[in-house]
Amino acid sequence: MENVLTQTVSFVKQKLEGAEAGHDWFHIERVWKLSKNIAATEDCDLLVVELSALLHDIADPKFHGGDETLALKISRKFLESQGISEEIIGQVLFIIQNISFKNRGEITGNLPVELKIVQDADRLDAIGAIGIARTFNFGGFKNNLMFHPDIPPKLNMTKAEYKKNEGTTINHFYEKLLLLKDLMNTSKGKELAEKRHRFMLEFLAEFQAEWNVEV
Ligand code: ADP
Ligand code: NI
Repeated sequence: MENVLTQTVSFVKQKLEGAEAGHDWFHIERVWKLSKNIAATEDCDLLVVELSALLHDIADPKFHGGDETLALKISRKFLESQGISEEIIGQVLFIIQNISFKNRGEITGNLPVELKIVQDADRLDAIGAIGIARTFNFGGFKNNLMFHPDIPPKLNMTKAEYKKNEGTTINHFYEKLLLLKDLMNTSKGKELAEKRHRFMLEFLAEFQAEWNVEV
């Protein structure tokens, strides 16, 4: 197992060279560590958790012309090359396919605990100080406005609307980031989300005050 994980780390690092700073190796490394922290509090298959955390953003559709199958193809090929069993490959691919915020609600019934864990870890890295930094980095990467007083957030967007939305970076907090705390699956995830959520609220209040020059 040690060896497979070492191989996976090198594979992911090499694949993500030059990636946008919010979706680069360091995002993966944080999600991997957070996943292990949460996994320690749940009854789960740790290999599935770790492989999924490491591979979950190997080919994010938003950086690959919307292709939602590429990550699955790349991951399957890699896992097969490592002699991983078909059963584990199936579990890992299911997590990669269903982890995303915009795909929530596409599966009904109980989520596998390993998906709950890695999804919580990915969501924790989307909130708090790191979440704020990643979001402004992504907004800058897309050349979006930070804020516009006449562009309101769009709540309850469909998946198609969410993907083509060209709102402001501040709106992204209302459209996604502030919703994540209540979507956490695990009790450890919920606990860790509280502080990060409060920090974002504080940031948004301060941003508004400074924007309006309420000195
Ligand atoms: P997921 O990775 O769950 O599919 P997203 O693709 O929506 O979720 O976003 C991952 C991260 O990328 C967000 O947490 C945020 O930091 C950044 N991001 C995505 N969309 C936007 C946006 N419209 N404006 C600013 N940041 C964004
Ligand atoms: Ni991610």
